[in-house]
Amino acid sequence: MTASPDPIPMQDLAIQHDALEPALLAGLAKLLASGRFVLGDPVRAFESELARLCHTEHAVGCNSGTDALWLALRALDVGPGDVVLCPAFSFFASAATIVRLGARPLFCDIRPDTLNLDPEDALARARSIPRLKAVLSVDLFGRLCELDALADECRAREIPIVEDAAQSVGARDASGRPLGAQARIACLSFYPTKNLGALGDAGAIVTADAALASRIARLRAHGESEPGVYTELGINSRLDSFQALALSIKLAHLEEWTRARREWAARYDALFRERGALGALEPFEPDRLPLRLLAPAPAPAFHTYHRYVVRVDAGRRAGLIDALRRQGIACEVYYARGLHQQPALAAHAPALPLVEVERAARECLALPLYPELGSARVERVVDAVVSHLERPLAANRRAT
Ligand SMILES: Cc1ncc(COP(=O)(O)O)c(C=O)c1O
Repeated sequence: MTASPDPIPMQDLAIQHDALEPALLAGLAKLLASGRFVLGDPVRAFESELARLCHTEHAVGCNSGTDALWLALRALDVGPGDVVLCPAFSFFASAATIVRLGARPLFCDIRPDTLNLDPEDALARARSIPRLKAVLSVDLFGRLCELDALADECRAREIPIVEDAAQSVGARDASGRPLGAQARIACLSFYPTKNLGALGDAGAIVTADAALASRIARLRAHGESEPGVYTELGINSRLDSFQALALSIKLAHLEEWTRARREWAARYDALFRERGALGALEPFEPDRLPLRLLAPAPAPAFHTYHRYVVRVDAGRRAGLIDALRRQGIACEVYYARGLHQQPALAAHAPALPLVEVERAARECLALPLYPELGSARVERVVDAVVSHLERPLAANRRAT
Protein backbone atom coordinates (compact mmCIF):
# COMPACT_ATOMS: atom_id res chain seq x y z
CA MET A 1 0.00 0.00 0.00
CA THR A 2 1.43 3.42 -0.90
CA ALA A 3 1.29 6.08 1.82
CA SER A 4 -0.99 9.00 0.95
CA PRO A 5 1.02 12.20 0.40
CA ASP A 6 1.06 14.88 3.09
CA PRO A 7 -1.86 17.28 3.05
CA ILE A 8 -1.14 20.75 1.65
CA PRO A 9 -2.84 23.48 3.71
CA MET A 10 -3.64 27.03 2.51
CA GLN A 11 -0.93 28.25 4.87
CA ASP A 12 1.16 26.76 7.65
CA LEU A 13 1.68 29.24 10.45
CA ALA A 14 3.15 26.61 12.80
CA ILE A 15 6.40 26.53 10.77
CA GLN A 16 6.80 30.29 11.11
CA HIS A 17 5.98 30.29 14.80
CA ASP A 18 8.29 27.37 15.63
CA ALA A 19 11.24 29.41 14.36
CA LEU A 20 10.16 32.59 16.14
CA GLU A 21 9.08 31.02 19.44
CA PRO A 22 12.22 31.93 21.46
CA ALA A 23 11.98 35.61 20.45
CA LEU A 24 8.21 35.71 21.05
CA LEU A 25 8.50 34.10 24.48
CA ALA A 26 11.37 36.39 25.50
CA GLY A 27 9.24 39.39 24.48
CA LEU A 28 6.26 38.07 26.41
CA ALA A 29 8.41 37.55 29.53
CA LYS A 30 9.54 41.19 29.34
CA LEU A 31 5.95 42.38 29.04
CA LEU A 32 4.83 40.25 31.97
CA ALA A 33 7.55 41.83 34.07
CA SER A 34 6.56 45.33 32.94
CA GLY A 35 2.86 44.82 33.69
CA ARG A 36 1.92 47.05 30.68
CA PHE A 37 -0.11 45.31 28.03
CA VAL A 38 -1.86 48.00 26.00
CA LEU A 39 -0.19 50.60 23.74
CA GLY A 40 3.15 51.77 25.24
CA ASP A 41 6.68 51.46 23.84
CA PRO A 42 6.20 48.26 21.79
CA VAL A 43 3.29 49.88 19.95
CA ARG A 44 5.21 53.11 19.31
CA ALA A 45 8.19 51.11 18.04
CA PHE A 46 6.03 49.05 15.69
CA GLU A 47 4.23 52.14 14.42
CA SER A 48 7.47 53.80 13.40
CA GLU A 49 8.75 50.61 11.71
CA LEU A 50 5.46 50.32 9.81
CA ALA A 51 5.52 53.97 8.70
CA ARG A 52 9.06 53.41 7.41
CA LEU A 53 8.02 50.25 5.54
CA CYS A 54 5.18 52.18 3.89
CA HIS A 55 7.45 55.16 3.09
CA THR A 56 5.16 57.51 4.95
CA GLU A 57 5.19 59.69 8.04
CA HIS A 58 2.63 58.26 10.43
CA ALA A 59 1.22 54.90 11.46
CA VAL A 60 -1.40 54.33 14.14
CA GLY A 61 -1.98 50.80 15.42
CA CYS A 62 -5.44 49.57 16.31
CA ASN A 63 -7.37 46.40 17.01
CA SER A 64 -8.09 45.13 13.50
CA GLY A 65 -8.21 45.99 9.83
CA THR A 66 -11.94 46.51 10.22
CA ASP A 67 -11.35 49.11 12.93
CA ALA A 68 -8.67 50.74 10.76
CA LEU A 69 -11.29 51.23 8.02
CA TRP A 70 -13.81 52.61 10.53
CA LEU A 71 -11.25 54.98 12.03
CA ALA A 72 -10.10 56.20 8.60
CA LEU A 73 -13.59 56.90 7.31
CA ARG A 74 -14.67 58.45 10.63
CA ALA A 75 -11.61 60.72 10.62
CA LEU A 76 -12.68 61.93 7.17
CA ASP A 77 -16.12 62.73 8.63
CA VAL A 78 -17.97 60.07 6.68
CA GLY A 79 -21.40 59.78 8.25
CA PRO A 80 -25.14 59.52 7.69
CA GLY A 81 -26.28 60.48 4.20
CA ASP A 82 -22.80 60.27 2.64
CA VAL A 83 -21.93 58.11 -0.36
CA VAL A 84 -18.64 56.21 -0.59
CA LEU A 85 -17.56 54.49 -3.81
CA CYS A 86 -16.25 50.97 -3.27
CA PRO A 87 -15.60 47.85 -5.40
CA ALA A 88 -18.09 45.04 -4.82
CA PHE A 89 -15.42 42.30 -4.81
CA SER A 90 -13.71 42.33 -1.43
CA PHE A 91 -13.98 41.09 2.13
CA PHE A 92 -17.28 42.04 3.79
CA ALA A 93 -15.64 44.59 6.13
CA SER A 94 -14.75 46.96 3.26
CA ALA A 95 -18.39 47.84 2.64
CA ALA A 96 -19.90 46.95 6.02
CA THR A 97 -17.81 49.69 7.62
CA ILE A 98 -19.30 52.31 5.30
CA VAL A 99 -22.80 51.18 6.26
CA ARG A 100 -21.97 51.06 9.99
CA LEU A 101 -21.09 54.76 9.77
CA GLY A 102 -24.56 55.46 8.35
CA ALA A 103 -23.24 56.10 4.84
CA ARG A 104 -24.12 54.32 1.60
CA PRO A 105 -21.67 52.23 -0.47
CA LEU A 106 -21.83 52.97 -4.19
CA PHE A 107 -20.61 49.67 -5.61
CA CYS A 108 -18.50 49.54 -8.76
CA ASP A 109 -17.30 46.70 -10.96
CA ILE A 110 -13.81 45.17 -11.15
CA ARG A 111 -11.31 44.35 -13.88
CA PRO A 112 -11.42 40.67 -14.79
CA ASP A 113 -7.62 40.43 -15.12
CA THR A 114 -6.60 42.00 -11.78
CA LEU A 115 -9.82 41.66 -9.71
CA ASN A 116 -9.27 45.21 -8.46
CA LEU A 117 -11.67 48.07 -9.07
CA ASP A 118 -12.28 48.97 -12.74
CA PRO A 119 -11.17 52.63 -12.96
CA GLU A 120 -13.44 53.40 -15.94
CA ASP A 121 -16.55 51.98 -14.34
CA ALA A 122 -15.62 53.62 -11.03
CA LEU A 123 -15.08 56.97 -12.74
CA ALA A 124 -18.46 56.85 -14.47
CA ARG A 125 -20.19 56.04 -11.19
CA ALA A 126 -18.19 58.71 -9.30
CA ARG A 127 -19.35 61.30 -11.86
CA SER A 128 -22.99 60.30 -11.29
CA ILE A 129 -22.80 61.46 -7.64
CA PRO A 130 -22.14 65.21 -7.36
CA ARG A 131 -21.30 65.04 -3.65
CA LEU A 132 -19.33 61.84 -3.38
CA LYS A 133 -17.75 61.83 0.10
CA ALA A 134 -14.88 59.37 -0.40
CA VAL A 135 -13.52 56.51 -2.50
CA LEU A 136 -12.57 53.27 -0.80
CA SER A 137 -10.18 51.36 -3.08
CA VAL A 138 -9.14 47.81 -2.26
CA ASP A 139 -5.78 46.16 -3.00
CA LEU A 140 -6.89 42.59 -3.45
CA PHE A 141 -4.74 39.53 -2.78
CA GLY A 142 -1.45 41.50 -2.58
CA ARG A 143 -1.79 43.57 -5.77
CA LEU A 144 -2.16 47.34 -5.47
CA CYS A 145 -5.16 48.82 -7.23
CA GLU A 146 -4.33 51.05 -10.22
CA LEU A 147 -6.69 54.03 -9.99
CA ASP A 148 -5.65 55.82 -13.22
CA ALA A 149 -8.11 58.58 -14.19
CA LEU A 150 -10.17 58.02 -11.03
CA ALA A 151 -7.28 59.41 -8.94
CA ASP A 152 -7.19 62.58 -11.12
CA GLU A 153 -10.94 63.00 -10.71
CA CYS A 154 -10.62 62.60 -6.92
CA ARG A 155 -7.83 65.17 -6.79
CA ALA A 156 -9.81 67.65 -8.90
CA ARG A 157 -12.94 67.24 -6.76
CA GLU A 158 -11.02 66.96 -3.46
CA ILE A 159 -12.53 63.56 -2.77
CA PRO A 160 -10.29 61.63 -0.36
CA ILE A 161 -9.24 58.08 -1.19
CA VAL A 162 -9.06 55.53 1.59
CA GLU A 163 -7.02 52.51 0.55
CA ASP A 164 -8.02 49.17 1.99
CA ALA A 165 -4.56 47.59 1.89
CA ALA A 166 -5.50 44.91 4.44
CA GLN A 167 -4.08 42.21 2.13
CA SER A 168 -1.17 44.07 0.62
CA VAL A 169 1.52 45.06 3.10
CA GLY A 170 4.80 45.77 1.27
CA ALA A 171 3.26 46.00 -2.21
CA ARG A 172 4.08 48.61 -4.89
CA ASP A 173 1.97 49.87 -7.78
CA ALA A 174 2.70 49.88 -11.53
CA SER A 175 4.73 53.10 -11.10
CA GLY A 176 6.74 51.57 -8.24
CA ARG A 177 4.98 53.63 -5.55
CA PRO A 178 4.31 52.08 -2.13
CA LEU A 179 0.80 51.40 -0.86
CA GLY A 180 -1.04 54.52 0.21
CA ALA A 181 0.76 56.78 -2.30
CA GLN A 182 -2.53 57.97 -3.85
CA ALA A 183 -4.62 57.79 -0.69
CA ARG A 184 -5.20 60.11 2.26
CA ILE A 185 -5.18 57.09 4.54
CA ALA A 186 -4.33 53.43 3.96
CA CYS A 187 -5.61 50.66 6.22
CA LEU A 188 -3.83 47.42 7.07
CA SER A 189 -4.91 44.20 8.72
CA PHE A 190 -2.59 41.96 10.69
CA TYR A 191 -5.09 39.12 11.07
CA PRO A 192 -2.94 36.01 11.74
CA THR A 193 -3.16 34.64 8.18
CA LYS A 194 -2.09 37.91 6.55
CA ASN A 195 1.45 38.16 5.08
CA LEU A 196 2.35 40.03 8.26
CA GLY A 197 0.14 38.43 10.88
CA ALA A 198 -0.23 39.09 14.60
CA LEU A 199 -1.04 36.38 17.14
CA GLY A 200 -4.64 37.57 17.27
CA ASP A 201 -6.46 40.54 15.80
CA ALA A 202 -4.52 43.72 14.98
CA GLY A 203 -4.54 46.48 12.38
CA ALA A 204 -3.18 49.94 11.59
CA ILE A 205 -3.64 53.01 9.47
CA VAL A 206 -0.82 54.82 7.68
CA THR A 207 -0.92 58.39 6.42
CA ALA A 208 1.30 61.33 5.53
CA ASP A 209 -1.18 63.69 7.20
CA ALA A 210 -0.18 64.53 10.79
CA ALA A 211 -3.58 66.00 11.72
CA LEU A 212 -5.45 62.92 10.51
CA ALA A 213 -2.98 60.64 12.33
CA SER A 214 -3.54 62.43 15.63
CA ARG A 215 -7.30 62.45 15.18
CA ILE A 216 -7.20 58.69 14.52
CA ALA A 217 -4.97 58.15 17.57
CA ARG A 218 -7.66 59.93 19.64
CA LEU A 219 -10.54 58.08 17.99
CA ARG A 220 -8.95 54.70 18.78
CA ALA A 221 -9.05 55.65 22.49
CA HIS A 222 -12.71 56.72 22.76
CA GLY A 223 -11.99 60.20 21.40
CA GLU A 224 -9.96 61.27 24.45
CA SER A 225 -8.13 64.50 23.59
CA GLU A 226 -6.47 65.06 26.98
CA PRO A 227 -6.60 62.94 30.12
CA GLY A 228 -10.25 62.58 31.10
CA VAL A 229 -11.58 64.84 28.31
CA TYR A 230 -13.50 63.32 25.38
CA THR A 231 -14.07 65.73 22.50
CA GLU A 232 -15.77 63.28 20.16
CA LEU A 233 -17.08 59.74 20.21
CA GLY A 234 -14.44 57.19 19.29
CA ILE A 235 -14.09 53.49 19.98
CA ASN A 236 -11.84 51.29 22.05
CA SER A 237 -9.38 50.04 19.46
CA ARG A 238 -6.01 50.23 21.18
CA LEU A 239 -3.32 47.89 19.90
CA ASP A 240 -2.03 45.37 22.47
CA SER A 241 1.65 45.66 23.36
CA PHE A 242 2.19 41.95 22.76
CA GLN A 243 0.69 42.08 19.27
CA ALA A 244 2.93 45.05 18.43
CA LEU A 245 5.94 43.19 19.76
CA ALA A 246 5.09 40.05 17.74
CA LEU A 247 4.56 42.20 14.65
CA SER A 248 7.96 43.88 15.08
CA ILE A 249 9.61 40.48 15.41
CA LYS A 250 7.86 39.26 12.25
CA LEU A 251 8.44 42.47 10.31
CA ALA A 252 12.16 41.64 10.22
CA HIS A 253 11.27 38.54 8.13
CA LEU A 254 8.64 40.06 5.87
CA GLU A 255 10.99 40.73 2.96
CA GLU A 256 12.26 37.15 2.89
CA TRP A 257 8.70 35.73 3.28
CA THR A 258 7.41 37.94 0.46
CA ARG A 259 10.30 36.89 -1.78
CA ALA A 260 9.34 33.25 -1.23
CA ARG A 261 5.62 33.92 -1.88
CA ARG A 262 6.53 35.63 -5.14
CA GLU A 263 8.78 32.73 -6.14
CA TRP A 264 6.04 30.13 -5.60
CA ALA A 265 3.47 32.30 -7.37
CA ALA A 266 5.80 32.65 -10.38
CA ARG A 267 6.35 28.88 -10.35
CA TYR A 268 2.56 28.27 -10.30
CA ASP A 269 2.16 30.67 -13.24
CA ALA A 270 4.97 29.07 -15.27
CA LEU A 271 3.80 25.49 -14.67
CA PHE A 272 0.15 26.31 -15.37
CA ARG A 273 1.16 28.10 -18.58
CA GLU A 274 3.23 25.08 -19.69
CA ARG A 275 0.18 22.91 -19.11
CA GLY A 276 -2.10 25.08 -21.24
CA ALA A 277 -3.68 27.64 -18.89
CA LEU A 278 -5.24 30.65 -20.62
CA GLY A 279 -4.18 34.25 -20.29
CA ALA A 280 -6.11 36.68 -18.11
CA LEU A 281 -8.48 37.91 -20.82
CA GLU A 282 -8.77 34.84 -23.04
CA PRO A 283 -12.25 33.31 -23.19
CA PHE A 284 -12.87 29.75 -22.03
CA GLU A 285 -13.17 27.46 -25.09
CA PRO A 286 -14.37 23.85 -25.29
CA ASP A 287 -11.02 22.32 -26.31
CA ARG A 288 -8.79 24.32 -24.04
CA LEU A 289 -7.93 23.96 -20.38
CA PRO A 290 -10.76 25.71 -18.46
CA LEU A 291 -8.29 27.63 -16.33
CA ARG A 292 -7.30 31.27 -16.62
CA LEU A 293 -4.39 33.01 -14.88
CA LEU A 294 -4.63 36.58 -13.64
CA ALA A 295 -2.59 39.32 -15.32
CA PRO A 296 1.09 39.49 -14.38
CA ALA A 297 2.26 42.54 -12.41
CA PRO A 298 5.64 43.33 -14.02
CA ALA A 299 8.27 45.48 -12.23
CA PRO A 300 8.29 48.11 -10.92
CA ALA A 301 4.93 46.78 -9.65
CA PHE A 302 5.47 44.50 -6.68
CA HIS A 303 2.71 41.95 -6.04
CA THR A 304 3.03 40.42 -2.59
CA TYR A 305 0.72 37.45 -3.26
CA HIS A 306 -1.32 37.33 -0.10
CA ARG A 307 -3.30 34.78 -2.12
CA TYR A 308 -2.56 32.93 -5.34
CA VAL A 309 -5.85 33.03 -7.22
CA VAL A 310 -6.80 31.45 -10.55
CA ARG A 311 -10.07 31.49 -12.46
CA VAL A 312 -11.79 28.23 -13.31
CA ASP A 313 -14.72 27.82 -15.71
CA ALA A 314 -17.71 28.27 -13.39
CA GLY A 315 -19.22 24.87 -14.23
CA ARG A 316 -16.00 23.09 -13.27
CA ARG A 317 -15.08 24.85 -10.01
CA ALA A 318 -17.10 22.77 -7.51
CA GLY A 319 -15.79 19.50 -9.01
CA LEU A 320 -12.22 20.77 -8.87
CA ILE A 321 -12.59 21.81 -5.22
CA ASP A 322 -13.88 18.31 -4.38
CA ALA A 323 -11.07 16.62 -6.28
CA LEU A 324 -8.38 18.73 -4.59
CA ARG A 325 -9.81 18.21 -1.10
CA ARG A 326 -9.98 14.46 -1.67
CA GLN A 327 -6.22 14.58 -2.34
CA GLY A 328 -5.59 16.60 0.84
CA ILE A 329 -4.99 19.83 -1.08
CA ALA A 330 -6.67 22.87 0.47
CA CYS A 331 -8.24 25.61 -1.65
CA GLU A 332 -10.67 28.43 -0.86
CA VAL A 333 -13.17 30.56 -2.69
CA TYR A 334 -12.56 34.29 -2.18
CA TYR A 335 -15.24 35.61 -2.60
CA ALA A 336 -18.31 33.47 -3.22
CA ARG A 337 -20.56 36.53 -3.64
CA GLY A 338 -20.19 40.13 -4.59
CA LEU A 339 -20.70 42.49 -1.66
CA HIS A 340 -23.94 43.68 -3.27
CA GLN A 341 -25.12 40.05 -3.16
CA GLN A 342 -24.61 39.78 0.61
CA PRO A 343 -27.96 39.74 2.41
CA ALA A 344 -26.80 42.40 4.89
CA LEU A 345 -25.86 44.77 2.04
CA ALA A 346 -28.61 43.93 -0.45
CA ALA A 347 -30.30 47.31 0.11
CA HIS A 348 -27.25 48.89 -1.56
CA ALA A 349 -27.19 46.66 -4.66
CA PRO A 350 -27.11 48.71 -7.87
CA ALA A 351 -30.02 48.38 -10.30
CA LEU A 352 -27.85 46.74 -12.97
CA PRO A 353 -25.74 43.64 -12.28
CA LEU A 354 -22.01 44.05 -11.67
CA VAL A 355 -21.06 41.63 -14.41
CA GLU A 356 -17.37 41.13 -13.67
CA VAL A 357 -17.83 40.92 -9.91
CA GLU A 358 -20.48 38.25 -10.29
CA ARG A 359 -18.40 36.31 -12.82
CA ALA A 360 -15.33 36.46 -10.53
CA ALA A 361 -17.44 35.18 -7.63
CA ARG A 362 -18.33 32.12 -9.75
CA GLU A 363 -14.80 31.48 -11.08
CA CYS A 364 -12.09 32.47 -8.60
CA LEU A 365 -10.22 29.88 -6.58
CA ALA A 366 -7.28 30.45 -4.22
CA LEU A 367 -4.64 27.72 -4.06
CA PRO A 368 -2.16 27.07 -1.21
CA LEU A 369 0.50 29.75 -0.88
CA TYR A 370 2.82 30.44 2.02
CA PRO A 371 6.55 31.17 2.26
CA GLU A 372 7.53 27.61 3.19
CA LEU A 373 5.37 25.99 0.48
CA GLY A 374 8.28 24.77 -1.73
CA SER A 375 8.49 23.81 -5.38
CA ALA A 376 7.48 20.15 -4.92
CA ARG A 377 4.15 21.11 -3.33
CA VAL A 378 3.50 23.70 -6.06
CA GLU A 379 4.11 20.96 -8.65
CA ARG A 380 1.72 18.61 -6.83
CA VAL A 381 -1.02 21.24 -6.71
CA VAL A 382 -0.56 22.13 -10.40
CA ASP A 383 -0.64 18.48 -11.38
CA ALA A 384 -3.79 17.83 -9.34
CA VAL A 385 -5.57 20.90 -10.79
CA VAL A 386 -4.59 20.24 -14.41
CA SER A 387 -5.18 16.46 -14.28
CA HIS A 388 -8.69 17.05 -12.98
CA LEU A 389 -9.55 19.81 -15.43
CA GLU A 390 -8.03 17.90 -18.40
CA ARG A 391 -10.11 14.78 -17.95
CA PRO A 392 -13.24 15.82 -19.89
CA LEU A 393 -11.01 17.40 -22.56
CA ALA A 394 -9.30 14.07 -23.14
CA ALA A 395 -12.72 12.38 -23.31
CA ASN A 396 -13.88 14.99 -25.88
CA ARG A 397 -10.80 14.38 -27.99
CA ARG A 398 -11.35 10.59 -27.95
CA ALA A 399 -14.96 11.06 -28.98
CA THR A 400 -14.08 13.14 -32.07
C1 LIG B 1 -9.74 43.47 2.06
C2 LIG B 1 -9.94 43.38 3.54
N1 LIG B 1 -10.44 44.45 4.19
C3 LIG B 1 -10.61 44.46 5.52
C4 LIG B 1 -10.28 43.37 6.28
C5 LIG B 1 -10.55 43.39 7.74
O1 LIG B 1 -9.43 43.11 8.51
P1 LIG B 1 -9.57 42.41 9.96
O2 LIG B 1 -9.93 40.99 9.72
O3 LIG B 1 -8.22 42.60 10.55
O4 LIG B 1 -10.63 43.16 10.69
C6 LIG B 1 -9.74 42.24 5.67
C7 LIG B 1 -9.36 41.06 6.47
O5 LIG B 1 -9.60 39.96 6.24
C8 LIG B 1 -9.58 42.23 4.27
O6 LIG B 1 -9.09 41.17 3.63
